[in-house]
Amino acid sequence: MEIIENCPLRKLNTFGIDAKARFLVDLNSTEEIKELLSTPQFRSMRKMVLGGGSNVLFTRDFDGAILKNNLKGIELIREDSEHWYLKAAAGENWHALVTHCIEQGYAGIENLSLIPGNAGAAPMQNIGAYGVELQEVFEELEALHTGSLETRIFSNADCRFGYRDSIFKREAKDRYIITSVTLRLNKIPKFNISYGAIEKELEAMGIGELSIQAISRAVCNIRRSKLPDPSEAGNAGSFFKNPVVTNARFETLKNDHPGIVGYRSSENETKLAAGWLIEHAGWKGYRQGDAGVHPKQALVLVNYGQASGREIMELSQRIAESVKEKFGVELEREVNII
Ligand code: EPU
Repeated sequence: MEIIENCPLRKLNTFGIDAKARFLVDLNSTEEIKELLSTPQFRSMRKMVLGGGSNVLFTRDFDGAILKNNLKGIELIREDSEHWYLKAAAGENWHALVTHCIEQGYAGIENLSLIPGNAGAAPMQNIGAYGVELQEVFEELEALHTGSLETRIFSNADCRFGYRDSIFKREAKDRYIITSVTLRLNKIPKFNISYGAIEKELEAMGIGELSIQAISRAVCNIRRSKLPDPSEAGNAGSFFKNPVVTNARFETLKNDHPGIVGYRSSENETKLAAGWLIEHAGWKGYRQGDAGVHPKQALVLVNYGQASGREIMELSQRIAESVKEKFGVELEREVNII
């Protein structure tokens, strides 16, 4: 276990925000986590777990201990006639895990290619992209209770998954440290190319026969074309969630704004494309200092270099206010604000 005092965080968050943590603790095993949490100094201190740092905005220095979860290991733990059960330690990089599955022919997470972050963070916000959400392949996870230091297994139902949501953003927030995630992957792939852009991309790639490899490549191409690479412009993917409104409200909005984009998310509800709302409130490509709105995807806020977390946060507030004023729709942040 390595403990660094007054640790700069710029390289540890994909927004590239220059904040500091009072302590940064590198944790490489469950035993090390238990050892740290048993130390009186750290037991009472404010703590947060950081994985890939890809869904966080630091608006100030963190006056406590940041626990860097570096638990590693991918293990095939069982199989049945239809599935492979793959257990990944929380500190495994998500895309490396997807790549491993594709190489082995384990199907189910190819649509989730190239999502930044670590495996342990995936269930917290039920990562999703291109028509697939983690919950569809999630079997269970192991987490350490920060008080009792006991390990608890959370089943799929226990996690209470929702759109970019789980129990770990609500009742269980800050009470557990996820140590591993087990996925239930398919032996026979069930291809999901219903999300418009994938089919088009597969066509453009000249793919005749579908495969998990081809879908993964298509998803990577789409993501690379739209989403900025954090090494070039700091960002945390979608800054806001896509707001969900009743179908009746969607119809009214459509009358007033005929081009508005929405997808039916349940029998009674429609998910609006927040990117469209932000673009049509005039923000796409906006930049003030080093804080801006990505010119290709208005749902992504970017740090072009030296923006502070507060500047990004203030920009997000202005965007949310103007979307509310123009469309009467509230935007909820997806990124964790510290
Ligand atoms: N759109 C615009 N202008 C924009 C951006 C989007 O008009 O500037 C409209 C377009 O009509 C487009 C539609 O919005 O067809 C949807 O855009 P896109 O396919 O880029 O997806 P999204 O709804 O903006 C969501 C997820 C992404 C995920 C993609 C693909 C959320 C908050 N975001 O974005 O997830 O990659 O779908 O499935 O649900 C993330 O969570 O960080 C993330 C990147």
